[in-house]
Amino acid sequence: MGKDVIIACDFSSAQATFDFLDKFTEEKPFVKIGMELYYAEGPSIVKEIKKRGHKIFLDLKLHDIPNTVKKSMAVLSRLDVDMTNLHAAGTIDMMKAAVEGLTREDGTRPLLIAVTQLTSTSEERMQNELLINASINDTIVKYANNAKAAGLDGVVCSPLEAGMVKESCGKEFMTVTPGVRFADGDIGDQVRVTTPAKAKEIGSDYIVVGRPITAADDPVAAYRRCVAEFVD
Ligand code: C5P
Repeated sequence: MGKDVIIACDFSSAQATFDFLDKFTEEKPFVKIGMELYYAEGPSIVKEIKKRGHKIFLDLKLHDIPNTVKKSMAVLSRLDVDMTNLHAAGTIDMMKAAVEGLTREDGTRPLLIAVTQLTSTSEERMQNELLINASINDTIVKYANNAKAAGLDGVVCSPLEAGMVKESCGKEFMTVTPGVRFADGDIGDQVRVTTPAKAKEIGSDYIVVGRPITAADDPVAAYRRCVAEFVD
């Protein structure tokens, strides 16, 4: 499995996204399109970025009844994205339906990964509001195992959780990890962060990096620094 840096293109318009991507004249970074951009611009933004030669992680975090998720995944699969995701909380049945919907007639499909518990959910809130009577780490590992049982390729998690997920689900089970910052950079609103080099050491397969690249004075240099620390 190839390690790669995925740039979170958290822009609110197609124009801002293209202005950013135009800076990359030598490489074609793997990009993440999230809800904000997708809801603003619709499927055309996916087609346009694909046409420019980028791989795409479409981060829409589906969570609904199995039939609805299956049909929605079939639509996303036809958009030819390379990776997409859902909430493991939708249960194994929902995740199996998602895999079915995503699988094309020729048997190929985009990578499918699950969100376990959002990194914005604290253990306290999970226990008090969601009434999940377990530790957050046990919940994450259990949800990751559910995702594996349903045939998914991996999970989105904090780099700090990647080690325990790999230990429980095997090293082939992918971990895609946001919450990455340079050692000398701004943390912003992220809490549990690591550097690209540390994420590599822990065993992340893909790091998702937003502001350290998109808000850098020189985004191309920041991207190259991530690649140098994480991939090379
Ligand atoms: O700018 P920054 O590097 O913090 O961006 C991280 C990206 O990863 C954002 O698009 C954010 O929504 C996403 N993400 C995250 N934590 C999660 C899941 C997704 O930061 N648990």
